[in-house]
Amino acid sequence: MKVTTYIPPQPGDFEFTPENIEKAKSYIARYPEGRQASAVLWLLYLAQEQNDGWLSVPAIEYVAQFLNMAPIRVHEVVSFYTMFKRRPVGRYQIQVCRTTSCWLRGSDEITKACMEEAGVSRFEEVSADGFFSVIEVECLGACCNAPVFQVSNEHYYEDLTPESAKAVMKALRNGEAPQPGSQTGRISSEPEGGLTTLTTLQETT
Ligand code: FES
Repeated sequence: MKVTTYIPPQPGDFEFTPENIEKAKSYIARYPEGRQASAVLWLLYLAQEQNDGWLSVPAIEYVAQFLNMAPIRVHEVVSFYTMFKRRPVGRYQIQVCRTTSCWLRGSDEITKACMEEAGVSRFEEVSADGFFSVIEVECLGACCNAPVFQVSNEHYYEDLTPESAKAVMKALRNGEAPQPGSQTGRISSEPEGGLTTLTTLQETT
């Protein structure tokens, strides 16, 4: 069994940039005196953004120190939320929803296509070009437009097919900004094959 030795963070391992220190202070100021710990999600998100999309142990413990919290309490928060990453990630994290609606609508094929496009063979592996890591997530709350993936905790790409999933990734790799939302062009959650009710307009008086 591989044993990992814990090395406590050393001074200078991670610290906020002067700009982020100001941002962190402004987040903390939103909470009443004595409730600074309530800003933990804001500060972790800030630290993750500064640290190339993931939270190293020094970054987590720096946030704990910043908020005067016990480090274990911040580790607990980080390990609870899937939006926080504890390993290096690709520039774009392809977060494939694999919960029921997406699974029924082909998330296995979407996952396979994403891995093929990234050139990786398992979740969380970073592609050789550093552009992508593919992860699985629970329901993203866009079930009626399944299957869905989210990119780096931000934009949703919906109504995916293996082809459109790959096309989105190719565009990201090329530095383009692919249009989020339905990839089939349907508006919101209207029926996939066109209207099935209210197909004629009725005059009302
Ligand atoms: S099951 Fe995928 S968005 Fe809800």
